[in-house]
Amino acid sequence: MGAGQVKLIDPKQGDDARLAYKADAILDAQFASKTAVSELQGGHRAQRVELLAGGVVAKRYDMADEKKRRLFWHEVAVLTRLADCPHVAHLLHADAGRGVLYLEYVGENAGATPKRFKDVKRIMKEIEERWGVLYARRDRQMLTVGRHKNGIKVGLRNVTVDSHGRTRLIDFGGPNWKLAPLPSRADVLLATT
Ligand SMILES: Nc1ncnc2c1ncn2[C@@H]1O[C@H](COP(=O)(O)OP(=O)(O)O)[C@@H](O)[C@H]1O
Ligand SMILES: [Mg+2]
Repeated sequence: MGAGQVKLIDPKQGDDARLAYKADAILDAQFASKTAVSELQGGHRAQRVELLAGGVVAKRYDMADEKKRRLFWHEVAVLTRLADCPHVAHLLHADAGRGVLYLEYVGENAGATPKRFKDVKRIMKEIEERWGVLYARRDRQMLTVGRHKNGIKVGLRNVTVDSHGRTRLIDFGGPNWKLAPLPSRADVLLATT
């Protein structure tokens, strides 16, 4: 499923997620009561990203800012699509009132080694083919080295290594992430028989 062949659901794909969203005040309160352990650095769109007790990440968006609000719903839309994908940080809960996405903590940023680059390429191909989630600037931003330490580039942007050593992707709020319509079950059956 390539970007050239399919009509992408864009640019207001977050609208579906917004319309499907059901507020849950009890879950909101449960997540909001978790203690912050540390602040995570390296983001640029979210207002603040924190690691909370219990291996949960809280990613806060400024919902008063319309552009940020769109990114919030866009990230909800993409993460909802990727709910059963093993290669990403899963969305645990979205609190639209407070503008917070609660995510599974998936470890520190990955070092820019050949193995990680290879993993990222493989994962991106898989999420495109199986989940219809595409990155519009595949080999540019996604694979650029994102962190700098003493002038030396040390890590991959939006790529982490989880506690089992597996490569995981994070940060699906960016407008370069696109959703393609999922092939219907019938199409998949026809294609494989
Ligand atoms: N689920 C997560 N697990 C581990 N670290 C995370 C997670 N989400 C975010 N982070 C850390 O927080 C930083 C900022 O989060 P990110 O989602 O990239 O925000 P932004 O959209 O502002 O770039 C990331 O670069 C990463 O270091
Ligand atoms: Mg980021």
